[in-house]
Amino acid sequence: MKKRVRIYAVLLALALLLSGCGNAQTQTGMDGTAGQTERENGQGSLADDRETAEADKSVYMDPAQDVESRVEALLAQMTLEEKIAQMVQPEQAGITAEDVSEYGFGSVLSGGGSAPSTGNSAQDWQQRVNELKAAALQTRLGIPLLYGVDAVHGNNNVFGTVIFPHNIGLGAAGDPELTERVAQAAAEEVRAIGVQWTFAPTLGNPQNERWGRTYECFSEDPQEVAVYGAASIRGFQGELGTEEYLDEKHVLACAKHFIGEGYTTDGINQGDVAMTQEEFDLLLESGVIDPYAAALNEGVRTVMISFNSVDGVKCHENRHLIRDILKGELGFTGLVVSDYNAIQQLSGATYKEQIRQGIDAGVDLFMEVYSWQDFMKNMKALVEEGSVSAEQIDDAVSRILRVKFEAGLFEETIGAETEQALLKKVGGEEHREIAREAVRKSLVLLKNETQDGKSALERLNAAENIRVCGQKAYDLGSQCGGWTISWQGMSGKTTQGTTIIDGIAAQVMPEKKLSHDVKGEVLEENDAVIVVIGEGPYAETDGDRTADALKVSADDAVMLENLKASLKEQGKQDIPVIAILIAGRPLNITEYLDDFDALIMAWLPGTEGEGVADVLFGEYDFTGKLQYTWMKDPADIEDKFAEGNEDKVLFPAGFGLSK
Ligand code: GLC
Repeated sequence: MKKRVRIYAVLLALALLLSGCGNAQTQTGMDGTAGQTERENGQGSLADDRETAEADKSVYMDPAQDVESRVEALLAQMTLEEKIAQMVQPEQAGITAEDVSEYGFGSVLSGGGSAPSTGNSAQDWQQRVNELKAAALQTRLGIPLLYGVDAVHGNNNVFGTVIFPHNIGLGAAGDPELTERVAQAAAEEVRAIGVQWTFAPTLGNPQNERWGRTYECFSEDPQEVAVYGAASIRGFQGELGTEEYLDEKHVLACAKHFIGEGYTTDGINQGDVAMTQEEFDLLLESGVIDPYAAALNEGVRTVMISFNSVDGVKCHENRHLIRDILKGELGFTGLVVSDYNAIQQLSGATYKEQIRQGIDAGVDLFMEVYSWQDFMKNMKALVEEGSVSAEQIDDAVSRILRVKFEAGLFEETIGAETEQALLKKVGGEEHREIAREAVRKSLVLLKNETQDGKSALERLNAAENIRVCGQKAYDLGSQCGGWTISWQGMSGKTTQGTTIIDGIAAQVMPEKKLSHDVKGEVLEENDAVIVVIGEGPYAETDGDRTADALKVSADDAVMLENLKASLKEQGKQDIPVIAILIAGRPLNITEYLDDFDALIMAWLPGTEGEGVADVLFGEYDFTGKLQYTWMKDPADIEDKFAEGNEDKVLFPAGFGLSK
């Protein structure tokens, strides 16, 4: 669960305790402190000013009408409060269904790991999501609620769902059609719980793997990102122009994070791109904008703005990027959503000024997760004082309504039989097979030494008593990585799936003997070693590393030293050692390379660990290729693309061996 959610929950409990009342909706101020509630101090909530006129639904509820007529007919009936409520996206952990009915929020999200209070099964989620969607229909105009989650490698918050390889692995797989099928399967598992929107795919092209979000991106090359991003969007949404597009088995995708996140100094998450705006515009024109152009071509209807800044100016207040380039040059007519409380990082001296900066720059929907009452009050004040125009509000709300009409939300039957049918597919064999195929294809063979005419992998297959070393050989949480069950991900058996060693056992036993060890000790009878090493789960800033920290975890380093000593003690230095790396990015493994007879980059494969054994022992070959330039020493990452630095590169982008 996002630690922010925990803090809020404590504050809310504290506030309830202090206020002594059952379900007071506390107004969290900017610093998250619980304050007075609107209703308690008798000022009445924003909702009390709402007109009670009977809605005229004749046009906007008629699917035979064209979208723009429906938008116009609905907008014309909306009060300022109703418009402003459509522009805010609270976190589900901080609101009740009554709040949804009373305020008429346009959208609600579950941040990473923000599961219903009842539990984390698909059924728990379906119940919570549909409770909130039903509450939205109780409002005067009955504008449907758009629910968003980060389904970035499957419906990854929910227990028991299929967790697919993270995008860095899908890029390595080099198969856009597979990427599309992965996204389609994920869309079904998301739609099954009533959610209609995923904040995916990430379209960054990381230049520096010190960045904690490298694994969320397909490639360092924006042209590659454009291909896989479009395929992912096609899978999530269905193909533009076909019956499938945004039907009840698909979800809205989100092109994120606009723009430049992969270019920050030292790969610092939410950091600054040290370029002038002119230099940055040239960078965009050189190709970095192409993934977004491709996404728009593919019919993406939501774009999330990036936390990073350019030349010190935060993207969320960069009018030139959002209004001139995204909405202007690219002609984007969908909705622009801000990132998680990102408005609160803007240069304005007050929250009110920050909100003004956000809408002025072109943000339409504000992911202001706990300060939603502050947001609505300040936005109303900005309009009433003339700092924000009615046109700006109407443009933002029109975009939100347009996307809702296009996505069929006004025709959606809550808990429809489509949803029930999809619920049966959650975590099912069909999707697990797609994920297993994605694991197989994502693996990159980086070394496969030949000795006496046999490759390391041939010698492994000829072995009869295999030792599997390393804690990550049976750590489902590590092989899934961040954004799994919880925001940061966790080591251990966090959901249902198959570990790498279980997959190997299923392939080779009982013909071969297999044993597991975490210390790095081999036995006299062993005739081959598989060692699984890497980094533990992380997300966002928690994954930012200094160059010298880009290496396998400390316990893996100790285990590798022990293994080397043990092989020597047992006189086993000639048996094949096959290393499998579980990591969200290239790591510094140069010092170990000579100790490995074979080296496989498995990225963050997700729940279907058998995919690794399928290639190690099965009839499948390695087909994966690196999408990132891999340095001998991460201290040289800045020189990745400089002329004449080839000797600093360990494996170039595009590298990958076959058996
Ligand atoms: C996060 C991420 C963004 C995600 C959002 C909602 O901070 O930056 O990728 O979609 O918040 O969880």
